[in-house]
Amino acid sequence: MTISTRAHHPAEPHDAPWWRHAVIYQIYPRSWADGNGDGVGDLAGITARLPYLADLGVDAIWVSPFYVSPMNDAGYDVADYRDIDPVFGTLDDADALIDQAHDLGIRVIVDLVPNHTSSEHAWFQQALAAAPGSAERARYMFAEGKGADGSEPPNNWQSVFGGPAWTRLEEADGTPGQWYLHLFDPTQPDLNWENPEVREMFLDVLRFWLDRGVDGFRVDVAHGLVKAEGLPDWHERTGMLGSHEEEHATEGEEPERAPMWDQDAVHEIYREWRKLLDSYNPAGDPARDRILCAEAWVDSVERAVAYTRPDEMHQAFNFGFLECPWRAADLREVITDSLDAAELVSAPSTWVLSNHDVVRHASRLGLKVGSQRPNGIGVGDVQPNAALGARRARAATALMLALPGSAYVYQGEELGLPDHTALPDHVRQDPTWERSGHAERGRDGCRVPMPWEAGRPSYGFGPSGQTWLPQPEIYGALAVDRQVGVDGSSLELYRTLLAARRELDLGVGELSWEDGLGEDVVSFRTTDRDGSGVRVITNLRAEPLPLPEGAEPLLSSAALTDGTVPTDTTVWLRV
Ligand code: NOJ
Repeated sequence: MTISTRAHHPAEPHDAPWWRHAVIYQIYPRSWADGNGDGVGDLAGITARLPYLADLGVDAIWVSPFYVSPMNDAGYDVADYRDIDPVFGTLDDADALIDQAHDLGIRVIVDLVPNHTSSEHAWFQQALAAAPGSAERARYMFAEGKGADGSEPPNNWQSVFGGPAWTRLEEADGTPGQWYLHLFDPTQPDLNWENPEVREMFLDVLRFWLDRGVDGFRVDVAHGLVKAEGLPDWHERTGMLGSHEEEHATEGEEPERAPMWDQDAVHEIYREWRKLLDSYNPAGDPARDRILCAEAWVDSVERAVAYTRPDEMHQAFNFGFLECPWRAADLREVITDSLDAAELVSAPSTWVLSNHDVVRHASRLGLKVGSQRPNGIGVGDVQPNAALGARRARAATALMLALPGSAYVYQGEELGLPDHTALPDHVRQDPTWERSGHAERGRDGCRVPMPWEAGRPSYGFGPSGQTWLPQPEIYGALAVDRQVGVDGSSLELYRTLLAARRELDLGVGELSWEDGLGEDVVSFRTTDRDGSGVRVITNLRAEPLPLPEGAEPLLSSAALTDGTVPTDTTVWLRV
């Protein structure tokens, strides 16, 4: 067998800043660990379980919103950015969490939601009480309706969760009044980022959390803050994805950009934020960098990395990788494109397979290859092939964790958790389910509470046995205590992968593609500046692949049989 290699992504120095290669674990606080037994996870629960993460070997955590909120969008509807919702605890609990994480060598990234507030935020309440044209209303996107009596919305935009993106107010005297924009739920009014007061408020919020010691911010809907001038009509549904727009592009032409997303002026905001964050590290010590990571669902990888130009954010999520079908050619292409694009702006690439908004990859990869990614799966829907999904998920993760750059792991994926794909519809809480007129199940299936101990009520999620969403039975067999120390378990695979990744410095490695193993095999080397690293083979063929001669396997996502790499298996070989 002839193998030729093509150098691709150059190696970085061993002392590269932490965020260029970190593995960041996403905690969805409602569902990670419940300290007080009310059925909802909380900060005390997180702090108590942090040693588990130190043991797993992650570098940082990103904690989804824990702020005061009516929870109409699970906390992405913030009523007070400077306080913790009582369901999660107190500011003291947040301080304890940050301190304890730091003591364990884990950095803490918090979630910032700047596109919209909750309708219960003091500013929106003041806006409701104030008159049209007032300074209070100018903090949000209020507008007069169209038509003689203003009874039609100012434009035709639809909300991401379904239904119109505008809601009409009743003014104080009971007459129908202005409309306000909400790209998400009606209880999530969009802020007006043209207003300097809004910009000041968020700089203060950043300072508030930086002063408490956080290491960075994941920025929600980072591509949505600035809207196109004049708020022109848009011919598409307002999805979070750029793919709708791409369908309209003729080859070679840039797709028409939706007026609510990815406007060039948004970048100015992040340049200002970057300056503020850098001012917290005046000596420029790379270990003290505080970071920004963009959640920006945009048209192309080039548009995504624009958020990570040297004077803007540090990272942007790589949703192209998450969306990639389980096909070798597609995987090679998305990895190459991601590394190339990141290099254009000297940023690290990031990698992610699961989060709280998408069907977990252990379920997603059990669906027909190339089928559209569903927004939730429920009873009556096509069900994933669980065994296939689990197997491919392990192979995909083993591939991901060998790639240079920073990787995100979503809570529970280390256990191989699938989505709850049979969640009864009446318990669903994601606003998508109702707002879409039951056309889309929404994201509850990936948000089900974690199983820690198989033999306890709620599988050890909390002391009372209550859980805000029911757990599927399979979570018992997948609980942490069933996997710790068990050879071949998903948890042990993640621990081994993370330890080897760290030891071999793969996050700062050079990636070189290897050709010659066939179209349906993904094969590359990641080596650091001293030449140590791994050779990675992911077999997507229908048949087993003979191991290359003299190969010394370091680890594999499934057992190797008779000197072959079975289908849907990733192996790391010593170089
Ligand atoms: C993206 C978040 O990840 C998602 O959960 C939320 O619903 C929307 N932004 C709105 O904040």
